Amino acid sequence: MKIAIGNDHAAVEMKNIIKEYLEEKGYEVINFGTDTLNSVDYPLYGEKVGNAVVSGEADLGIAICGTGVGISIACNKVNGVRAVCCSEPYSAKLSRIHNNSNVLCFGARVIGPELAKMIVDEWLGAEFLGGRHQRRVDIISEIEKGN
Ligand code: RB5
Repeated sequence: MKIAIGNDHAAVEMKNIIKEYLEEKGYEVINFGTDTLNSVDYPLYGEKVGNAVVSGEADLGIAICGTGVGISIACNKVNGVRAVCCSEPYSAKLSRIHNNSNVLCFGARVIGPELAKMIVDEWLGAEFLGGRHQRRVDIISEIEKGN
């Protein structure tokens, strides 16, 4: 499985920790994030991760900024992205099971690396249930199309 990862300057260290963690588990990680501490604009990195997921270049995406908030908002502006900003594993897991989330976001200034790994594990380990949840995700897609 290929995972697109992206980050701004606030999350370089966290990105490296999560990238290495995923690679150790056998995931292929495509790095769309910045690798320096020079100040950058997080929406550009959210867009890159979102585009990679929607185009099929990656199966799923992980996007990290200081809070996870800005980059998740940016990811969600890419049609087809269902990004979630999670600071705990329960919401991350349920966002896959119920909402078919395809981008996970969190804040490098909000949570530590061990909690981030737990959130990533729960998110990647969960599967979309479909059924009534598919109907609801379809409604989200219709809203996105402006219907
Ligand atoms: C950058 O200072 C910060 O605003 C960004 O990382 C993020 O927290 C935005 O939501």
